[in-house]
Amino acid sequence: MPKDQPAPVADTDRVAREAAALAEAPVEDDQDKAGEAPAKPIVVEGRRVGIGVDVGGSGIKAAAVDLDTGELIGLRHRVPTPQPSTPAAVCASIARMIRKIVKEVELEDEAPVGVGFPAVVIDGVTKSAANVDAGWVDFDADGALERVLKRPVHMINDADAAGVAEMRFGIGQGERGTVFLITLGTGTGSALFFNGMLVPNLELGHMEIRGRDAERRSAAVARVRRGLSWKAWAADLDEHLLAIEKLFSPRLFIIGGVVPATLRNDAGIVGAAMAAAEMESARQG
Ligand code: BGC
Repeated sequence: MPKDQPAPVADTDRVAREAAALAEAPVEDDQDKAGEAPAKPIVVEGRRVGIGVDVGGSGIKAAAVDLDTGELIGLRHRVPTPQPSTPAAVCASIARMIRKIVKEVELEDEAPVGVGFPAVVIDGVTKSAANVDAGWVDFDADGALERVLKRPVHMINDADAAGVAEMRFGIGQGERGTVFLITLGTGTGSALFFNGMLVPNLELGHMEIRGRDAERRSAAVARVRRGLSWKAWAADLDEHLLAIEKLFSPRLFIIGGVVPATLRNDAGIVGAAMAAAEMESARQG
């Protein structure tokens, strides 16, 4: 199969079926409900609401999001990322979380789901898999998730999602010129904006510094893996940021992840929901 072709439809169907079956299993892995489930579903009449999901190397977070204010509505859920993080297992975890969210918040069937994912994502197809299972390479993620969730789904790169939220509601509001958002987690994510417009799938975590992927030294996980002090790790991170500065001369760096930007850990959820809503209205024409 040529590299730039998405997985065949049969594959998407098989994963969707597997995920739907797995999602039926009563798994209680919710770690961060940040409160108790409401007794009755929260009514959101008159508000534009979507669902945001943020898939990371160690956890998956999800919540309903007010698309006009960026506020989370109801509980924020978090489950550990399944290991191995195969498409079927991850899609099943997402399905379980969304099943809870739609019980807690009264959402229309057409409310779109946005998923931030740690890979290059082009037209809903995941193209890389640096810190997730190799099964994601050339996988039609939007297609499989739409079959499982029976809602419109749009997946985008996780750092791009966080950047969209920061530019709209956070520290990047109204910023012109070149702005970078860097996320520091299992990998190092990067998002580039020019005059508020996203240039997607930048992948500067994989630029080469000292002969290897920069994220091998700058990601938050790298500090722990290498047993470094914060100070020693900050010097490595600095080297990465300086290399980016030299190439792109940004006006502003927004650092998210372990050093959360203004929206704290919710930027990925909020931005995924917003990006999905925009892509869905473009699809509807
Ligand atoms: C991935 C990116 C992702 C970043 C942060 C990198 O390893 O290649 O796509 O944005 O990690 O999760």
